[in-house]
Amino acid sequence: MERKWWHDKVAYQIYPKSFYDSNGDGIGDIPGIISKLDYLADLGIDILWLSPCYRSPLADQGYDISDYYDIDPRFGTMEDMERLIAEAKKRGICILMDLVVNHCSDEHEWFKRACEDPDGKYGKYFYLRDKKEGELPTNWRSYFGGPVWDDLPDTDKQYLHVFHKKQPDLNWENPEVREEVYKNINWWLDKGLGGFRIDAIINIKKALPMHDYEPDREDGLCSIHAMLQEAEGIGAFLGEMRDRTFKKYDAFSVGEVFNEKPEEVPDFIGDNGYFSSMFDFNEAIFGRSGKGWYDAAPITPDDYKKCCFAAQAKVKNVGFLSNIIENHDGSRGVSYYIPEGDCCDESKKMLAALNFLLRGLPFIYQGQELGMENVPFASIDEVDDISTLDEYKVALEAGLPPEEALKAVSKFSRDNARTPMQWTDGANAGFTTGTPWLKANPNYPSINAAAQVQDADSVYSFYKKLIALRKDPVYKETIVYGALEPVWEERHNLMAYYRKGERTLLVVGNYQREPQEIALPAMYKSVLLNNYKDIAQDKGTIRLQGYQVLVLEM
Ligand code: GLC
Ligand code: CA
Repeated sequence: MERKWWHDKVAYQIYPKSFYDSNGDGIGDIPGIISKLDYLADLGIDILWLSPCYRSPLADQGYDISDYYDIDPRFGTMEDMERLIAEAKKRGICILMDLVVNHCSDEHEWFKRACEDPDGKYGKYFYLRDKKEGELPTNWRSYFGGPVWDDLPDTDKQYLHVFHKKQPDLNWENPEVREEVYKNINWWLDKGLGGFRIDAIINIKKALPMHDYEPDREDGLCSIHAMLQEAEGIGAFLGEMRDRTFKKYDAFSVGEVFNEKPEEVPDFIGDNGYFSSMFDFNEAIFGRSGKGWYDAAPITPDDYKKCCFAAQAKVKNVGFLSNIIENHDGSRGVSYYIPEGDCCDESKKMLAALNFLLRGLPFIYQGQELGMENVPFASIDEVDDISTLDEYKVALEAGLPPEEALKAVSKFSRDNARTPMQWTDGANAGFTTGTPWLKANPNYPSINAAAQVQDADSVYSFYKKLIALRKDPVYKETIVYGALEPVWEERHNLMAYYRKGERTLLVVGNYQREPQEIALPAMYKSVLLNNYKDIAQDKGTIRLQGYQVLVLEM
């Protein structure tokens, strides 16, 4: 595998709207991010991915862009963005922006012009079909519910949107659209960005000619995945994009890819892959049901382990996965992957170590380093996220009583990750002096950065140690490039693996409340990390405490 500048980095995702509000309007902003760069540098972060802060009506919180060359005034100005890039650079941090080009906003100039003249140049930027009374062009269901077709205002046509109706899909078959995308990417890279996180990219290739698929719910519609499975040839678009943009700058790119087949891994992230890396969503999508969130199966510790190892086995040393515990699209990992009732500092640290030391690039989502947890929603009225509101409706339609429907969707709600970053125990978690756009999680008096930064035993300090370990010149080569080998794979509620390279490390986590014993094949040389004060051992046998995690040099 060809070595790359980003391989040994640690990345961090910022959701700008909820990170830090510098001017009291209740919305996080770019000057707010700048003021927290020292916090991030001190933690050891090298790469910062910002969720979108381009000009946008924020129908999907910025994933609906109305001007790719501008910053939304709520987030700041272009000068702020340039200052952020420069200030980050001073601290050895590079910035990734979010590339949202499967769709734009219905308030984008292109879409407005398409409405004015659907048969003209801009009509071809979108997927338009003639409107027929009582009939839709296809029966595809949008990710956020309802058909993917809506009327193109003031015309006799309809347009396609696989996400929200304010997110019309761009027609990638049109070379002019692709040129516009490449021009924009290069424009930003010229400003000194380190690269991009690439949103929803698997959707850019549609199976053409469009047609219906077998309905999979009472609504007579079918999941977009039915169509995507049949769509072939996305590689031509992605390869062209790589060659025309990222490659020329040696930029980092990480794709939001869900459905690659094992044999496609080299195409996606091998040497000269479409992307530098792609996220591992194996754990996140485990147990999901076509019926909706309400029907999802819970994930157990053994499932979690299997998912991680399966993803590792799929990629091997062909490329680099980007490993996440959470992002802005769902639950807080600690609330999701740790069995109910067991969420505590020890279990949070265990999850952190098990995930962080997998082979690949670790991404930390804002607040994850503090062990931020899911939100207790008292009513659906407290929910802002369009996806949760839709899934709530789906759950009600399936016959769940409102209380159960709320409980079911609360578990997955994207708002869990979107509540304000918990900086202090002061009002609104120190996120804003005004009224936050989304209420802070009421647990901020006990979970916040100010307290944890000073506490050597906090979750934050544990993350800092993990990052330092990854960067330690003695272990770096092994942690970054070493092979991953599962151990004791069949043991219940135990997740353990070797990282083998210049050195041999054993990462072992007791994924349960009860203690359990392991017999080491040989005595370890040193303890690199331990989330407990000591190790209960007798010769080669270690009695792991509840949720104890150890990183041992063998
Ligand atoms: C991605 C984003 C998500 C967004 C969607 C549409 O999945 O992560 O937040 O809603 O794409 O852009
Ligand atoms: Ca603000």
